[in-house]
Amino acid sequence: MNVDLPPRLKLALEASILEEYAISALKQAAESVSLRYRQTDRNGTDVQIKSKVEALSYLAARMPATFAANIMVMTEVEKKLVDFLPRTLLDIGAGPGTSSVAASYLFKTLEQIEMVEPNNYLQSAGRDVLAPFLREPVWIAESIENFKPRQLYDIIVASYVLNEISEEKWKPIIQKFWDSCSGVMMILEPGTPQGAKIIQSIRNWAVEKQVHILAPCPHSHRCPLSDSESGAWCHFAVRTARSKLHKILKGGEAGFEDEKFSYIILSRILSKTEPYRLIGHPSGSKLREMQVCGPKGAETLQVSKSHPLHKKSKKLEWGDSFDVGY
Ligand SMILES: C[S@@+](CC[C@H](N)C(=O)[O-])C[C@H]1O[C@@H](n2cnc3c(N)ncnc32)[C@H](O)[C@@H]1O
Repeated sequence: MNVDLPPRLKLALEASILEEYAISALKQAAESVSLRYRQTDRNGTDVQIKSKVEALSYLAARMPATFAANIMVMTEVEKKLVDFLPRTLLDIGAGPGTSSVAASYLFKTLEQIEMVEPNNYLQSAGRDVLAPFLREPVWIAESIENFKPRQLYDIIVASYVLNEISEEKWKPIIQKFWDSCSGVMMILEPGTPQGAKIIQSIRNWAVEKQVHILAPCPHSHRCPLSDSESGAWCHFAVRTARSKLHKILKGGEAGFEDEKFSYIILSRILSKTEPYRLIGHPSGSKLREMQVCGPKGAETLQVSKSHPLHKKSKKLEWGDSFDVGY
């Protein structure tokens, strides 16, 4: 699926960024942030944003992709819970407010958004640039660990944040916020083996506590990719257009980038679970090959032209869930 920043948001974002800094300064800042984030074994590397120019370079270089991943995940909520009319949202480790902006676009019933973000530079960038795109935003300058929710929220989202927090804290954090969630809780991480491992650990917690998993898992048995010998891990992808500024900041000439992400949606509201989820791009024309997670674990379904699923399979994309019966 393709998800681009809405044109008005993209224009406002780039205009305010370029008004503040020269492209050379933004490029240098984007490179140092990216270098810190790319160090997979961070060994205590502090990845946090350290200046205003770094925060604005994050908005230009990373926000389009994390926004797209958030839209993908939230669309799954929309599809599965058609009567869900969320009023309140809590965005933890909000950065500039990426998830909150995505939710403001998708869930028109939202009335109150709280964003927990201790980094001053990211919070200011969000306040300065993204305020017009947020519904009733309230910023809270606290860490996830210290923040004490004082109410229930219809949506809680943690996007690309748990990988910045040590492993022993993940489950207590999830438990604390789940206790304050009256609707759905979405957790997104980079679509890397490390990101998938975080999601896996939350999934294990959810299965143990019998918390309903809305997506992506079509079952609550052992995850077939958890210790897969093939080296595969559970992740999805979304394509997003690259602007001229984005190309300059991140290099390369391609007109798009594919953002890989892993995610899980926990839900207080039960929904119908379809038995299969595509965990890779389908291929083939007459004989369609579809890598799926399903009742038999991870497998490749081969769908010939005579099968009732063949026609439908042409419309299915990596990340979609489906039933074979129609
Ligand atoms: C990669 S950014 C993601 C920002 C945003 N959620 C998004 O999807 O674009 C990670 C964010 O997590 C925040 N963060 C890291 N550790 C945190 C903590 N202990 N408490 C709250 N936020 C934290 C950082 O300040 C940063 O804003």
